[in-house]
Amino acid sequence: MEQTKWYKDRVFYQIWPRSFRDGNGDGIGDLWGVYEKLDYLKELGVDGVWFSPLYPSPGVDCGYDISDYMDIAPEYGGMEAFRAVLDGLHRRGMKLVMDLVVNHTSDANEWFRKSRRRIEPYTDYYIWRPAKPNGKRPNNWDSHFEGKAWQWDDLRQEYYLHLFAVRQPDLNMDNPLVREEVKKILKFWLDLGVDGFREDVITFISKKEGLPDDYLFPVFKGIRFYNHGPHIHEYLQEFRRDVLENYDCVTIAEAPLVTPQRALDYIDEYGSHEIDMMIQFQCMCADCLFSDYMPLSFSLRKLRRAFSSWQKRMDGRAWNMLYLENHDHPRVISRYGSEKYRVESGKMLAASYLFLKGTPFIYQGQEIGMTNWYPDKTEMYEDVQTLNQKQNWPEKKRLKLYHRASRDSARTPMQWTAGENAGFTTGTPWFHVNENYRQINVEAELTDPDSVLNFYKKAIALRKSLPVVRDGRYREYYRNSGKLYVYSRETETQKLLIICSFTDRPVRFRPPKGYSLAQMKLLLTNYDDRLDGNGFVTRPYETRVYLYE
Ligand code: NOJ
Repeated sequence: MEQTKWYKDRVFYQIWPRSFRDGNGDGIGDLWGVYEKLDYLKELGVDGVWFSPLYPSPGVDCGYDISDYMDIAPEYGGMEAFRAVLDGLHRRGMKLVMDLVVNHTSDANEWFRKSRRRIEPYTDYYIWRPAKPNGKRPNNWDSHFEGKAWQWDDLRQEYYLHLFAVRQPDLNMDNPLVREEVKKILKFWLDLGVDGFREDVITFISKKEGLPDDYLFPVFKGIRFYNHGPHIHEYLQEFRRDVLENYDCVTIAEAPLVTPQRALDYIDEYGSHEIDMMIQFQCMCADCLFSDYMPLSFSLRKLRRAFSSWQKRMDGRAWNMLYLENHDHPRVISRYGSEKYRVESGKMLAASYLFLKGTPFIYQGQEIGMTNWYPDKTEMYEDVQTLNQKQNWPEKKRLKLYHRASRDSARTPMQWTAGENAGFTTGTPWFHVNENYRQINVEAELTDPDSVLNFYKKAIALRKSLPVVRDGRYREYYRNSGKLYVYSRETETQKLLIICSFTDRPVRFRPPKGYSLAQMKLLLTNYDDRLDGNGFVTRPYETRVYLYE
């Protein structure tokens, strides 16, 4: 294993720029706002930032529809603000990772405008197909956001493929010119000094020749023909060989439905090593089937299986990316924890993943224990994915599903203070502020030693001070428990035992064989008064982290 890679020692923070902090009072989060908060991030202890897209975009999918890859959107402060933030991060010893979205562009991108008009060399930049003789779509694939995956274009008189929203046409990565464009983008940002890329649905970029109809699955029709498609490894290797290898940068690939076994085809450090880390989705499926919109009740066994299988499979071969929240899912306390025990469960959830092996990512607001947003009407939602779910359902039922599943819950403005607009903006916020901001905000949590925020700070600092968190072997205990998640990390010289209760009910905990609580030091917990013996009965969502040296 390569131990020297810088990203293995880091904790990342994800910024979804529209809702982080508005610096110029127009109601939209921006890089000037980020600039103001760099010391906040430094004090939290994170030392890397991943920015969701900052590029110019019509905003159909909040920036994941890019119209110009070589610029920063004016509403985010343009290049000037970007340079200031990049510099500010680097001066503080922090890294900056951009979002690379090249499965698709916006329909407002110059390439697409020209492609529609068959202006060379753009004619084949996208996936165009004539209608079938009966006028029908070229195949039966579904889009992830808006109905079927094909849109008729009057100008070109052909259909184009869009795996996401209608206004997000898919690029034709089989065209070598498109791959050259991707390399130009990578080079442009790396030369400017960025430290890597989070690669959006990158496993979708190679589609099976002939784009066959899919008669196997009732949902996500077509996905087996473009997820891990025929040329995916060739293209990723090309990007690595021609550009990435020449820089000391990190790549983090978003990979829907990926299994640990399949991930090794991409990230095995003794194999292809095309990518450094993968964003898997299994840890997001402990309370649903494949997607947040197919809800099931929460299963700790599923979550444990997700954590453990990745820990074990990657061990000694590849590096894990660890997360419990991002901009695509509702808030984790509302899902896997408890809003009633918000503080306790927020801390417990932090401990459940921050001591695993890999590089943790924390999503804005997660560190203060933000929870889901519950508007009164479906029309208050903004997100294209949300609004296209179950449009024919009655309002009440639909609202209930959105409350549970919408990613808009992660996109309400960051709660900085108990003041107007939660201190996010002095103007009119572009999106609703969660009403609970008077109780849940950074200002209040900074002054409360028992806040979720201060727990995150302690956990991050601990992680950094203990080599066992980076290097130790992973073991799980209580493997069949639906209530306790218990794991250890072990080296020759250090042992760490992490106990997490996922319930408000009392559970009797006894240490696993070879461990004696009396001989261990309690490093971190979410309850002050210890009720000990060589075992204890858990309190709601209790967590404890013990060290043995
Ligand atoms: C994954 C991104 O994380 C999500 O926000 C976006 O909507 C889709 N990819 C499409 O780009």
